[in-house]
Amino acid sequence: MASVHHFDHNHILSLQDLSREDIHLILQSAESFKEISSRSIKKVPTLRGKTVINLFFEPSTRTRLSFEIAAKRMSADTFNFSASTSSAVKGESLVDTARNLMAMHPDVIVIRHAHSGTPYLLTKHIKASVINAGDGTHEHPSQGLLDLMTVKQRKGRIEGLKVAIVGDIAHSRVAHSNIVGFSKMGANVLVGGPATLIPSGIEKLGAKVGKTIDATIVDADVVMVLRIQKERQRDPLIPSFREYANQFGINKKVLTAAKPDVLVMHPGPINRGVELDPDVADSPRSAILDQVSNGVAVRMALLYLIMGGD
Ligand code: CP
Repeated sequence: MASVHHFDHNHILSLQDLSREDIHLILQSAESFKEISSRSIKKVPTLRGKTVINLFFEPSTRTRLSFEIAAKRMSADTFNFSASTSSAVKGESLVDTARNLMAMHPDVIVIRHAHSGTPYLLTKHIKASVINAGDGTHEHPSQGLLDLMTVKQRKGRIEGLKVAIVGDIAHSRVAHSNIVGFSKMGANVLVGGPATLIPSGIEKLGAKVGKTIDATIVDADVVMVLRIQKERQRDPLIPSFREYANQFGINKKVLTAAKPDVLVMHPGPINRGVELDPDVADSPRSAILDQVSNGVAVRMALLYLIMGGD
């Protein structure tokens, strides 16, 4: 008889921490939760009485809203903490903030923070489950999972695919989660972009480095395009947006090197006309809005599994 895999994590901090079996289980659960979002009454009682706090110290559209929608569709109570309107602006430390939130007995804290490692710090000080919604340049595990779900849906498999990740690899927590996640699930991952934005040692996470953009995306099944993150660059690492678009921007012409049925992805927000041409972003080859839809299903699965669902 086939054995059943049990999910044994109180926190979701990185894809490094999850096994292949964990990832399979999350994707399977997300597939079954996806159907709830297509009902006319988009609500199930699964997490009734549970409390989820979204603790966001950095801006977000997709991640914050989809965690909130995911929790609400499962009948949990959700509360949003935005740093700019909180006592953090009066100098309250993160640990003090977290301890005060704990005094209100939440079950899950979803945190986004500019400093890598902040979600790990939180787990040392609070009893609630912690989900990393993006920590500095480290990881964005729920984004990696929704990207895996999207590729599995559109391509039917992950194993053996060639996945090219193009752009600001150095500052991208999405790239780091995707390199780990796709390699773990058997894809071949290549990264490419300006040499100043490719960190040394990236191969240790499981990616090869393409010498040129063409060499990176040649025969690719999936091209993931990343945003140029000006806000995380202390010194300018590219001469200008225009120069970047000319040399590294993904457009129809560049994509002729990839497979004809290549899938184009972007975690958002897009700098249209810089890293990605609008013609490609809005074409049938683009899976960008599928990624957003799958974000809700994946986050429903994560909330369900860390709160003991089986
Ligand atoms: N992909 C992503 O993390 O988007 P947001 O910054 O809008 O949450």
